[in-house]
Amino acid sequence: MELNKNNNKPTVFSGVQPSGVLHLGNYLGALAQWVEMQNQFNCIFCVVDYHAITVKQEAKNLSENILNVVKAYLASGINPERSVIFQQSDITAHTELAWILNCVARMSDLNKMTQFKEKGLGKESVGVGLFDYPVLMAADILLYNTDAVPVGEDQVQHVELTRTLAKRFNNEYGNVFKIPEVTVRKQGARIMGLDDPTKKMSKSAASAANYISLLDRPEAAAKKITRAVTDSGSEIKYDAKKKPAIANLMTIYSLLSNTSIKELEAKYEDKGPAYAKASAGKYGDFKKDLAGVVVEFLNEFQIKYNSFSDKEVKQILKDGAEKVRPIAEATLKNVKNNLGIN
Ligand code: AMP
Ligand code: TRP
Repeated sequence: MELNKNNNKPTVFSGVQPSGVLHLGNYLGALAQWVEMQNQFNCIFCVVDYHAITVKQEAKNLSENILNVVKAYLASGINPERSVIFQQSDITAHTELAWILNCVARMSDLNKMTQFKEKGLGKESVGVGLFDYPVLMAADILLYNTDAVPVGEDQVQHVELTRTLAKRFNNEYGNVFKIPEVTVRKQGARIMGLDDPTKKMSKSAASAANYISLLDRPEAAAKKITRAVTDSGSEIKYDAKKKPAIANLMTIYSLLSNTSIKELEAKYEDKGPAYAKASAGKYGDFKKDLAGVVVEFLNEFQIKYNSFSDKEVKQILKDGAEKVRPIAEATLKNVKNNLGIN
């Protein structure tokens, strides 16, 4: 990949934490979006291990999860010949810049972050790293002169903070940082829990019925779809306010099968009332078909996922770090120059 940019393509940067198995929300909100962007942009995808340790991790699990996130990137269709994949902790400039940005960020900026509030909720004490997490994320993004940051909706606030910090630094110390834009998908930016369509799908949910892990056994995932909460009525109609559960299932169906919501509505137009009479309950045909779509997706995904060896993945990370290091170091050098500490 021509990261040193003779190609004039804008730069895209994003990352996922290696803190457990990824779920369908991660795939539809983030990874699938990244795959689409590979043709048009210089893409850099990071495994953000320093973010993962903001909550306690077991060392053995963490080192496995780092490789597993890369396997999920590859199985989703990220092509390492075209995009860079690397591990955050391989590039020391991330933590160095995070410290510098800490001196630009204010407590009041971070106090506004809703994710920190949610993660800290009900806990007796909360780690400083968890509070500071969005500053490290800002450093990740700003090191690479990033134009666009493709994420799910829950990360939008963090990218906005990144913009604020970049502008503040540029104002106070002279122009160094490019101001990045956030990109979220029109559909799929916030996949909701299967057990509760008012909360986002999340791997830290209390029940595994909330999410479909990308490594769930396909038959187990099919069961989760069959048992997913639905709304009252029996019509397959997209209405996020009145029918949030069906709207969520329709979004998943639409994205995984490349069928528009309109087409889905038309396909199931006559099925609701007929199905309501049948024994399995209303929405049954729709859910059965969706379960089939999910099974097919997971089968394909998992075959690809299992085809990559740890050795191969380690080499991809090593090559990735070599490619991005010069860019990160150049940005950090400019930052230090402006601060007068080079
Ligand atoms: P995380 O697992 O928090 O590291 O998230 C990785 C990426 O997945 C981020 O871009 C998130 O915004 C995205 N993401 C996480 N949960 C969801 C969800 N329920 N719907 C859509 N995107 C999500
Ligand atoms: N905070 C992001 C999440 O939890 C992960 C992340 C870390 C990230 N650094 C980033 C995403 C930089 C985009 C760009 O999902």
